[in-house]
Amino acid sequence: RLGSVGTKFDQHKHKYRLYSLDNSNNYDELIKWYERVTKEVGEGAELVCELKIDGLAVALTYEDGIFTTGVTRGDGVVGENITNNLRTIKAIPLKVFILPSPFGGEDSAERKRLSIVSVRGFRHEERVSEKLGKGYNFDVRGEIYMPKSSFEKLNEENLQNGEKIFANPRNAASGSIRQLDSSITAKRDLSMFCYGAILDGFVAKTHYETIQLLKKLGFKTNPNIEVVKNIQEAIAYCEKWEHKRFELDYATDGVVIKVNDLALQQELGFTSRAPKWATAFKFPPEEVNTKLLDIEINVGKTGAVTPVAILEPVQLAGSTVSRASLHNFDEIKRLDIRIGDTVLIKKAAEIIPKVIKVSEHSSISNTFIPPDRCPVCQTPLETREGEVNLYCPNSMFCPAQIKAKIEYWVSKEAIDIDFVGPSIIEQLFDKNMIKSAADLYALSQQDFMQLDLVQDKSAFNIYNSIQSSKNRPLARFLTALSIKHVGKETAQILANHFKSLENVINAEIEELATVEGVGEKIAQSIYDFFRNENTLKFLSQLKQLGVEPNSEVFEAKSDILAGKTIVLTGTLQSMTRDEANEKIRLLGGKTVSSVSKNTSYVIAGESAGSKLVKAQNFGVIILSEDDFLGMIKEGNIG
Ligand code: IVH
Repeated sequence: RLGSVGTKFDQHKHKYRLYSLDNSNNYDELIKWYERVTKEVGEGAELVCELKIDGLAVALTYEDGIFTTGVTRGDGVVGENITNNLRTIKAIPLKVFILPSPFGGEDSAERKRLSIVSVRGFRHEERVSEKLGKGYNFDVRGEIYMPKSSFEKLNEENLQNGEKIFANPRNAASGSIRQLDSSITAKRDLSMFCYGAILDGFVAKTHYETIQLLKKLGFKTNPNIEVVKNIQEAIAYCEKWEHKRFELDYATDGVVIKVNDLALQQELGFTSRAPKWATAFKFPPEEVNTKLLDIEINVGKTGAVTPVAILEPVQLAGSTVSRASLHNFDEIKRLDIRIGDTVLIKKAAEIIPKVIKVSEHSSISNTFIPPDRCPVCQTPLETREGEVNLYCPNSMFCPAQIKAKIEYWVSKEAIDIDFVGPSIIEQLFDKNMIKSAADLYALSQQDFMQLDLVQDKSAFNIYNSIQSSKNRPLARFLTALSIKHVGKETAQILANHFKSLENVINAEIEELATVEGVGEKIAQSIYDFFRNENTLKFLSQLKQLGVEPNSEVFEAKSDILAGKTIVLTGTLQSMTRDEANEKIRLLGGKTVSSVSKNTSYVIAGESAGSKLVKAQNFGVIILSEDDFLGMIKEGNIG
């Protein structure tokens, strides 16, 4: 339950999705990233280097120049509405003022851009109120952080008052911004660096110009931004800041490198999770030595059996670490890790720490022997082709796997059931009260009273939060099912595309594989999952108990594309691939990934390649994006 303060904010769907960043872990990976950029958009793309601020991402919406909504990143699609708390942060302008052009007459876009001056906050309201940015709607993105010095001061005060000590400035910022009482947030020293915007009505040609514009509008931007000519110069920037960052009063965990030219950014586009025009270079993580006390064996929800290092507790990158990942049993053998050894562990921000090598063997330690049976259900373990992990194949009955699946079902990432954690699940399971997540929904308040440390009030809370979780959004429901290769991002993509559980269940492999972000391997896994007898039993049990995702029922709006198979190729201008697929689906048509002589139309966007050639060879009708839009608008289907 990291990051949660036990408070509840309204969920807010982002107007524009907040993407993640792909990481480059070393300079070779940075160079490779730039090679991919060059391959797509040609030589010489200018770059911008910025510090990666270690705080929490928020999106601010301004309407008619007025700050109206501020939302946490959440999963990038939906976040929490924390507007009231953000209003207390001085770095965030509540109103943005725009002076009219000093040039007079019709403004060229360029002049409009140059003439923007703003006054922050209310102070000058009288004087310039008529110039409030009417008609200016835009979104600003940035990172909320707490200065290191304020973090230390807060911890000192909290220590004296017997209050919570934060592990690092990021947690302190997160805890402060997620207070239900804004007056507490107001007392904390929070600030914000803005690093991006979606501007409507302003003209910016480059990312750097966008940042300058934000500055003029009264937003706080990080001063250490630099435009560089090539990846070598970007590497020099990273090398400089790897050491210099310790002089700053705010935490940074890397450098973000972005293609400067906005037109090139658009050309490069996005993967399912991150822009191709940016990459995050992570500073090498901190490392520390400690003693390996034991090796525990963990059985996960997919049956993967993995070793976990139990360590003598040490401080690492601002938190106490007593467990670390050992990857897999091959790695233990390769590194010759033995219980009692002194091992070097390292931690990259957020990620669980890992053992990277043995620093010193203990004189009494023995070579560790991997298990050949599941430590929980004693089933002989198996290896799987192409995978390093050992697996417990007893997926239906192995108590560890069932428990792990139920724990995942209730977790924040999945169905998100408050008051039900590992210890409650363990007890319910051991008392034979549940055999699957579905059984949770059949339990009464009285049932929970049988558990240790559960009294009236908490039994009521547990019962209530389970019952009120019956109709979560489809994406959460799909995530919670623990389908192999389907994490929460893929689940969201599936939900957006298919709209209802029925549609996902009935989807053919080909359709699953055409969804952007879903490859053949994932498609096969989803397909198999919904054809498994146990899955169907589980789903029908859930349904009987009233547990169903709350998706709108999909209805075709029109059937003008009924029976048509359509191939999309190249980059579309007015919509994303997903939106185009969706349009076609709503009109009764079907998109497929490859061209054959049976293809009805090929819609060719910019820089369409081999599919276009193939279509010409087969004599398939080729439509431009405009042709297609005109065609569906007029219902003029040939
Ligand atoms: S740009 C579409 N610039 O890093 C690209 N992100 O790992 C959006 N972050 O969630 C991100 N400093 O919270 C960008 N100068 C910076 C940043 C930055 C910190 C965070 C941001 C994002 C995360 C991605």
